[in-house]
Amino acid sequence: MKVLVVGKGGREHALCWKLRQSPRVQAVYCAPGNAGSAEEGINVEIEAHELDRLVRFARQEGIGLTVVGPEEPLALGIVDAFEKEGLRIVGPSKAAAELEASKVFAKELMRQFDIPTAEFRVFDDPDLARKYIESRDHPVVVKADGLAGGKGAIVCSTKEEALAAVEKIMVEQAFGAAGRRVVIERRLDGQELSVIALVSGRTIVMLEPTQDHKPAFDEDRGPNTGGMGAYSPTPIGTPELMREIERVVLVPAVHGMRRLHRPFRGVLYAGLMITPQGPRVLEFNVRFGDPETQPLMMRLKTDLCALLEAIVDNQLESFAASGLEWDERPAVCVVLASEGYPGPYQKGRTIFGLDHAAQLPQVKVFHSGTKVSNGRVVTDGGRVLSVTALGENLLEAKRRAYEAVKCIEFAGMFYRRDIADRAIRRLRLAQPGGDAGTGSPGTL
Ligand code: AMP
Ligand code: GLY
Repeated sequence: MKVLVVGKGGREHALCWKLRQSPRVQAVYCAPGNAGSAEEGINVEIEAHELDRLVRFARQEGIGLTVVGPEEPLALGIVDAFEKEGLRIVGPSKAAAELEASKVFAKELMRQFDIPTAEFRVFDDPDLARKYIESRDHPVVVKADGLAGGKGAIVCSTKEEALAAVEKIMVEQAFGAAGRRVVIERRLDGQELSVIALVSGRTIVMLEPTQDHKPAFDEDRGPNTGGMGAYSPTPIGTPELMREIERVVLVPAVHGMRRLHRPFRGVLYAGLMITPQGPRVLEFNVRFGDPETQPLMMRLKTDLCALLEAIVDNQLESFAASGLEWDERPAVCVVLASEGYPGPYQKGRTIFGLDHAAQLPQVKVFHSGTKVSNGRVVTDGGRVLSVTALGENLLEAKRRAYEAVKCIEFAGMFYRRDIADRAIRRLRLAQPGGDAGTGSPGTL
């Protein structure tokens, strides 16, 4: 079968890489793809939002299965457009993609179906939003309602910051129409956890727990990004907690969407804060996470194509019964970014050392924002590469990933040096007689 992956990031490269390993797959196409996906298959020069062109291509080329990486085409209705033409595609309908495309919709669903989340209010008037902030005696997070490329949530420590966030989102309209309404919610403390599940009908199959690192700099400093690194599994995602998340978050969300006549099919991602009172949903996404997908694909042993087909064909129950097969070894992914990201940055910088890094064992360098120019691989995005490695334990996976990072260079390259450290520290403390005093686990 011919498969098509829509998108151009590290997540899409990882999906192409994994799909290519399936005996069911005869060719992998990626639209528009990057220099990495071109090594796994064939790039097609169509942007992810060009729905008509994608439909036409899929029909002409006889694509048997399409999987969508980013949220924009899902929110635009790519699944409806493909299904109208009888084309098989993994993802939610436009109506169900609202779960990610509107934070107001997601929060109201959570309220209606008792899904644990931070207490909140919705505003479309900046004056009322300001009054509400003044009346609160706890820190808040101000979130643009619509899609804002992962940058629409502003975590505030003071009232001044929250008022400035209202100004930026609602008055200056930094995210355009996405900021016409805002959600203002209580700021929560705890550890974040990403839980990604495959959903079809009433069946839910959870993938292994992952954690990403959103802030740009070490020790969670700096502005939020799309994600500067990720690892899987994570010690906080215990089997008990995962069962609780399935019961109190995923099951009611899937049930709620059916009740609202927006049945959800595809990939459901719950971004959670694990608080002392239990898990709380920060957001829902309606797709695979980036960079969470990179370590997950390194570890997944089950045939990805069979799994994705099962979603489309309502056959997911068989995987729910048998469970998925995973490499027991953890995987760590370090994102190499362009100086300036998540703000403005330069493109077109030559990347050196990719061949060298590719020779290291248990390492895969997924491309995030790259392209080929004059025969050379150059930078083409804020997040440039997702250097991912497996190891016998998290520490070894981290060491391998950073060893590969050391081989790679481009002008203005920056990355976090503490990916997975919190989990490594936690594991050390949990060991019998364990202590964190034997040197920083972040030391490489
Ligand atoms: P969101 O786009 O809603 O996932 O928010 C992006 C990031 O902002 C999350 O990954 C968290 O790091 C942070 N965040 C969002 N909501 C909250 C909250 N209520 N309390 C603390 N941090 C939050
Ligand atoms: N890594 C967060 C996301 O994919 O939205």
